[in-house]
Amino acid sequence: MPQAVITSEPVEAPDKEAEIKRNPHEDFAAVEASRPPYNPALKWEMSKTPRPDWKVGDGATTEHCKDRKFLTIDPQEDGRSVVLNYKLMISCTVPRPIALVSTVTEDGQTKNLAPFSYFQCVTTDPPTYSLSCSGREANDTLTNIMATKECCISMTSDWLIEAANFTSVNTPRHISEWELSGLTPVPGDIVTAPYIAESPFSVECRLLHHQDLFSVKDSSVRTATLMILQAVRFHIWEDVLNDDRATADMAKLRPVFRAGGITYGTCFNGFEIPRPEAFRHVRKDPEVEAIVQKAQAAKKSSTM
Ligand SMILES: Cc1cc2nc3c(=O)[nH]c(=O)nc-3n(C[C@H](O)[C@H](O)[C@H](O)COP(=O)(O)O)c2cc1C
Repeated sequence: MPQAVITSEPVEAPDKEAEIKRNPHEDFAAVEASRPPYNPALKWEMSKTPRPDWKVGDGATTEHCKDRKFLTIDPQEDGRSVVLNYKLMISCTVPRPIALVSTVTEDGQTKNLAPFSYFQCVTTDPPTYSLSCSGREANDTLTNIMATKECCISMTSDWLIEAANFTSVNTPRHISEWELSGLTPVPGDIVTAPYIAESPFSVECRLLHHQDLFSVKDSSVRTATLMILQAVRFHIWEDVLNDDRATADMAKLRPVFRAGGITYGTCFNGFEIPRPEAFRHVRKDPEVEAIVQKAQAAKKSSTM
């Protein structure tokens, strides 16, 4: 199996923006000037769910989603570019949390900081996160994690978003984004990479596993590396913890998510939906049992 391309040249990467055209606006400054200021007074609020009287079998809660016409796309269709798949995937797979990933070069000389939204929790035992670095050339984050087997992840709140976005700047490898971001590094307890003082939740991680991914069009070209990172320390601002000392208060985390194009979003409205009970309890409801029986009968007759 081909190995990841890891380069360490101190050169600036080419201007990807011109190629991808993530920004849909001819004149972004004019569009931004026409918009109202950000409202920091918006707060995370809890409401009822969209349909509190929803019951088993009710399906979707609005009519507008019935009988819609689908456009079906083959991602590998002749002439369809990777950029089109990228634009579709990142604008439809939302919201995605943003990890600010801190790493250090193998020689310990340069601290690196960059944002990543191909990022998620994987499971809790072992406590793990997934992180994916895309691009035919390894970015500094990938190069550093492969060399040092560690990193720190900090979550992005609304007061961090401009700094976080800026850390995606393509600095040459020997120039750190830390100073440019204006954020404050805190030494890790276990890993060499620091975490961010201004982020309410940071995780020190060790690399558990990685998997290179290759282009469908040319299987000799590595296009991404998926990493599974194991949490070895959590750092959370004390007052962000709820009284249970286990969960965080969304109103205090004020997370920002990444959507498509150059869009970010916040989550200033919430509702709660408990998970269903064990199915053996759920099916005691005659309406549930009727649906199960009907589906089973349909399945049986379709296989006869
Ligand atoms: C909000 C945001 C999310 C991003 N997510 C990813 C991602 O998931 N994977 C990736 O390879 N690049 C992602 N990028 C681009 C990298 O941050 C960018 O290429 C950066 O220069 C990499 O830095 P490094 O070379 O210091 O590692 C993202 C950029 C932004 C602004």
